[in-house]
Amino acid sequence: MLVHIKDIISKAQKEGYAVAAFNTFNLETTLAIVKGAMNKNSPVIIQVSETTIQYAGLKPITHIVKTIAKNEAVKIPVALHLDHGKSFRSVAECISAGFSSIHIDASDLPYDENVALTKQATHYAHKHKCWAQGELGNILGQKDVDAGLTEKDTERYMTDPEQAEKFIKQTEINTLAPSVGAMHGLFPGKEKIDQERLKKIHEKTKVPLVLHGASGVSNEDIKEAIKNGVVVINIDTRLRQEFSRSLRETLMSNVHEIDPRKILTPPMAAVQKAVEEKVEIFGSANRS
Ligand code: G3H
Ligand code: ZN
Repeated sequence: MLVHIKDIISKAQKEGYAVAAFNTFNLETTLAIVKGAMNKNSPVIIQVSETTIQYAGLKPITHIVKTIAKNEAVKIPVALHLDHGKSFRSVAECISAGFSSIHIDASDLPYDENVALTKQATHYAHKHKCWAQGELGNILGQKDVDAGLTEKDTERYMTDPEQAEKFIKQTEINTLAPSVGAMHGLFPGKEKIDQERLKKIHEKTKVPLVLHGASGVSNEDIKEAIKNGVVVINIDTRLRQEFSRSLRETLMSNVHEIDPRKILTPPMAAVQKAVEEKVEIFGSANRS
């Protein structure tokens, strides 16, 4: 069933587990996410990025998620969220399309400009009964690694707990995406969560924290992060990796198959399996 994100996050926060926010980009991934969550009897957040909106169109992808949530996910709560919205316009369009939550990511801007844009988007979201997620600090990724950024450098991009407290007061966001050591993409062994920093951010802000870039974070770090205030965990790369790996294998071992339904069935199963594994680790299985 399609629900407001606040129902899913508030319950998780109260009961001490985390909910996965999986990125989707098409019908197949959305179905696989929902089937995986249903098999585990788990609530789930399905999120779309601006790149997916460019690829699939806002209305088509919104309707795919909503229709599957209403008609397939009959026994589990599903919420629709915008991931890394970079502009006010992007946020406003998703709110009009019926999202119950948006992420305004102005983290690349200087602090005061981040506050101003986040505040504007949050007030608009609240006026339309939506939740808003803000971001403070820089969550690094492939381009930063390519630019030669070392693990040592990453600390200066992390979120300052005192500034996070101020940011929450100034913007009134519902959830916060801090930078605490995870990176967008998979960098095995390189993504170490600064648990002390996370704990301080949690103590100072009290809002549910969203762990971005979680695909490459170890299970131990994930479990500790949940104890330290993380309530939502974003997973994108891991699903894309499984989808593509399985698609490649299927095509290579069935070179004459031309039925896309047959070609796309194994990738869906692979994504579903990855979803089930994550949901178990995050502790949201049997919490629907
Ligand atoms: O916003 C999306 C996430 O932060 C995904 O991160 O690609 O490392 O799973 P990931
Ligand atoms: Zn992210």
